[in-house]
Amino acid sequence: VGTGLLDTLDEYLASRCPASGYGLVTDTTVERLYGARVKARLETLAPVAVATFPAGEWNKTRDTWAAVSDTVLSAALDRSGVIVALGGGVVGDLAGFVAATYLRGVRYVQVPTTLLAMTDSSIGGKTGVDTALGKNLVGAFHQPSLVVADVSTLSTLAPVHLAAGAAEALKHGVIADAQYLERLISAAPAVRARDPRSLFDIVRRSVEIKAAVVRADEREQGQRAMLNFGHTVAHALEAALGYEILHGEAVALGMLAESRIGESCGVCDATVAPMVRRCVEAYELPTEPPSSIDVDRAIETMRHDKKSRGGTVRFAFPSRVGQMARASDGEWTHAAPIEEIRSALAPWG
Ligand SMILES: NC(=O)c1ccc[n+]([C@@H]2O[C@H](COP(=O)([O-])OP(=O)(O)OC[C@H]3O[C@@H](n4cnc5c(N)ncnc54)[C@H](O)[C@@H]3O)[C@@H](O)[C@H]2O)c1
Ligand SMILES: [Zn+2]
Repeated sequence: VGTGLLDTLDEYLASRCPASGYGLVTDTTVERLYGARVKARLETLAPVAVATFPAGEWNKTRDTWAAVSDTVLSAALDRSGVIVALGGGVVGDLAGFVAATYLRGVRYVQVPTTLLAMTDSSIGGKTGVDTALGKNLVGAFHQPSLVVADVSTLSTLAPVHLAAGAAEALKHGVIADAQYLERLISAAPAVRARDPRSLFDIVRRSVEIKAAVVRADEREQGQRAMLNFGHTVAHALEAALGYEILHGEAVALGMLAESRIGESCGVCDATVAPMVRRCVEAYELPTEPPSSIDVDRAIETMRHDKKSRGGTVRFAFPSRVGQMARASDGEWTHAAPIEEIRSALAPWG
């Protein structure tokens, strides 16, 4: 994590991820901004094939995976080649999945360029694509060999995407570090002004938190589920609203709703919901969805969530700010009655 790292990327790659060739995967927006600079650094080391796809979540599909894989195949990248994912979470998830499957798996490097990708999606090795039935339903666990987060690239990021990235960082504070959460709230104006010091601090602390959780439970058999705070509702909102809502915005709304559900289930103490609201307001994230949702359909979607079991909807809840709650059976997720979920979502119906 640092500033200006794109210009020394070749040094990191030469020592941490040398290759016979590089497959540089990016989207149209990021290619225009940073593609030539990164390609030039990679070319000092080995031949580079560039695969670019149109920016936007709606392109995180199997079709794009196939097109990108074909481009890399036609460049004859071999097993000692390396995929370089340059972009936000969409590029990272998609390029990671290409790397996981290309010639049955090659190494890859994450070069995240959004706050969301730096603080969250570039860490932890979850890769994949969306399908018509839902987000991230086809994918693989595949860890990057190296992650290089150059916070200077955030200077060009649109304010809505900056705020969306802050939502995942706020989540890290809520689940693991109350002091970090206070720092995040007071840093909001500096973050909006793209102050490099503040951005560096946030990315570094979020990476520490996420990496520690993933290290303890890489395949999400237990405690990694705590990273899903806000996400049961977020995924249902994303399914209901499609591309009207960014992932980070859905996470902000999800944390608001889930802190209410957790409180009514007697798991979250009374400080969690007001604190989540303070965070969301500090970063000017939405406090209600852009259009009303079909609450019954959203609940139905939650029943199909990866965490649900036997039709009960499960949530990762904090017990208090900075501390996740374990259920009496030792699980990191908690079943919540449909009535509590319905009343938390009713204002959005
Ligand atoms: N794998 C994981 O663990 C994980 C975790 C959280 C989220 N995700 C996934 O991440 C995705 C969201 O990621 P995102 O919010 O980064 O979205 P994104 O990749 O779509 O990026 C947002 C937009 O910003 C543009 N952009 C990227 N970098 C830029 C820069 N430096 N300057 C200007 N514009 C730039 C992109 O072209 C895009 O239009 C979702 O698909 C979500 O499911 C994955
Ligand atoms: Zn998320």
